Amino acid sequence: MSEANTVTVQIEDAVAIVTLNRPAKRNAMSPTLHLEMADVLEKLRYEPASRVLIITGAGESFCAGMDLKQFFMDLKDNPPEFDRIFRIATEWRFRTLRYYPKPTIAMVNGYCFGGAFTQVCACDFAIAADEALFGLSEVNWGILPGGIVAWNVAQVLNFRDALYYAMTGDTFDGKKAREIGFVNRSVPLSELRQATIAFAKKLMEKSPAAMRYTKEAIRAVRFMNEPQANDYLSAKSDALRLGDKEKSREQGMTQFLDEKSYRPGFGHFKRKASQPAK
Ligand code: COA
Repeated sequence: MSEANTVTVQIEDAVAIVTLNRPAKRNAMSPTLHLEMADVLEKLRYEPASRVLIITGAGESFCAGMDLKQFFMDLKDNPPEFDRIFRIATEWRFRTLRYYPKPTIAMVNGYCFGGAFTQVCACDFAIAADEALFGLSEVNWGILPGGIVAWNVAQVLNFRDALYYAMTGDTFDGKKAREIGFVNRSVPLSELRQATIAFAKKLMEKSPAAMRYTKEAIRAVRFMNEPQANDYLSAKSDALRLGDKEKSREQGMTQFLDEKSYRPGFGHFKRKASQPAK
């Protein structure tokens, strides 16, 4: 576990590009990578210079899943360390990303296997290269998609596709990923970075608080019944009004009703404040 810099960060125009950086190992996630990634996400969470997060992979791969050697083999006789790394790995790829206060985009540039599905599902958006290759390869080496992968896939894919890809291990490319709704969009690899950054900048024009609370609400109501959702959404709306330092609602109303400078149906109001989301 002596490697370092398994994750790199580049912040440009308030977009943070976080790159899994073990290209020789197809960015398989080693224990060190999990520790570094948890650290990076913690720092970027409070970094005002970054407003949107993009996760991608160095070289020809997005991420080849868990590092089978360093994680499963090297730690098999060390249950406490296995448990520690497993918890950190699950935390950053699942809860941390799902509830990240800034919008998150998985930019899938190449191979995406097994455990890598977790961070793709947890990000708010996913944009893939047409040439990317996805696979739930677990069944090919005799395990099931554990570590919350099966749950994520069952949430994001339709039931038939979830069963099909998990039980066969068949691969699918970026175009197919778009077709089955696993990613929002696929573009030629040569255009991937530019298209993803352009999308990230579009997100930055919207109210950060409104986007954050919307993300939390959409994620939460999926697991509620109607009375719970009604009550929750009412309280969540109040919380947004109280917590939004930019007073987006007031800005949006004034610009539409009084200033008549935009139409909400066709686009967003012009943000006057540019403070980072709380
Ligand atoms: N764990 C550990 N090492 C991995 C790895 C993983 N998940 N994925 C790739 N590597 C290593 C290979 O062992 C190889 O190491 P070496 O150079 O020391 O021999 C190196 O990365 C390059 O892999 P290679 O298989 O030669 O590259 P490729 O481009 O021909 O194929 C993959 C790429 C991703 C298709 C292939 O490596 C693969 O199937 N990996 C396993 C994917 C998987 O099942 N992940 C699920 C884990 S939950």
